[in-house]
Amino acid sequence: MIYSSSVLNPLEISLSHNQFNFFQSRHCVLLGYSRTCMEYGLHILELDVGDEVLLPDFICDVVLSPLNSLGLTPIYYSVNDSLEPRYERIERQISKKTKAILTVNYFGFPQPYDPIRAICKKHGIWHIEDNAQGFLSHKGDQPLGTFGDLSFTSVRKTLPLKNGAYLCLNHPTLIGRFQSSRYMPYWEKEPCKTFYLKRFLRWIDMNTFLPLSKFRKEKSIPKPGSGELEQKPFGMDPIAKWLLFHYDLQSEIKKRRRNYALWLQFFLHSPVQPVFDHLPDGVCPFAFPVYVEDQEKWLNWGWKHGIEIRTWPTLPLWVYHNRPETVERWKRLLLFPLTKSPQNILKRTQ
Ligand SMILES: Cc1ncc(COP(=O)(O)O)c(C=O)c1O
Repeated sequence: MIYSSSVLNPLEISLSHNQFNFFQSRHCVLLGYSRTCMEYGLHILELDVGDEVLLPDFICDVVLSPLNSLGLTPIYYSVNDSLEPRYERIERQISKKTKAILTVNYFGFPQPYDPIRAICKKHGIWHIEDNAQGFLSHKGDQPLGTFGDLSFTSVRKTLPLKNGAYLCLNHPTLIGRFQSSRYMPYWEKEPCKTFYLKRFLRWIDMNTFLPLSKFRKEKSIPKPGSGELEQKPFGMDPIAKWLLFHYDLQSEIKKRRRNYALWLQFFLHSPVQPVFDHLPDGVCPFAFPVYVEDQEKWLNWGWKHGIEIRTWPTLPLWVYHNRPETVERWKRLLLFPLTKSPQNILKRTQ
């Protein structure tokens, strides 16, 4: 698939119909998944087999899939409990083979970008912004997903769509390469009927009194490393595209921010520790992340009350075996969903 700049921006055009023009970058392409955007982006960086990419060690294993398919080596830097990179250590990990640093906008919250940009500039390496969880989120007036030299954003994680993600090129050199790229990604439609049927049942569950959640199957926690080779098709499903262009995005932001505030209030005097105890203006949170002492207890609590609390991330196998501090954090972190208002449950349990 070859793109010319005139067809790069269907999302921008359509979202401006929604009076919600969140793109500042004019060089974007809609694809199926964040990992496919990342693979496309890495291809545009023109890296060689064996080149190194620095990644935070608190990350989901599926980001390894594009690195694996291009023969690139991940080097993990650590982050603190506020999920900010430990900048002082990153520089020591940069070698001649390091070509890019990836940062993550965890749960839709922005990172301090200046320190990472300074490091990238000093060493002549690219900044990749992983905004998989930050669709609709801003830092000041600028949308997340436009801060890196290249950035990718997942739409499907915030909206109930089968797939959907976009890659943005924000650096003049990369824009030039992108426009002349003859890259032919693997393009295939994904079956999606069952997905939308399940979404419809979930909608009934959330909006009616039918007790469908009683029939939900309990999900097990995925094993570290289980997604490292998991590839996905490149294209975005046409139904997902249609739904995206007709979605009320402002309501989605309002709903997520309101539910985040409710969870904050609920845990105000509790030992449960929100990862971010303040919701800055402009942030559209992906979930309500907390640190707990007893993960199992809260997972059971969620199950009992029909709230889909989950763990995150499925760590890369190497991290699981070599970074005990990160594994400890993984065992303390839980994500509370923001899709459904917790008001009724909170009233019942308070
Ligand atoms: C931070 C982050 N980056 C990238 C990805 C990959 O996203 P996708 O499943 O759309 O490829 C995920 C998936 O969970 C993620 O959480």
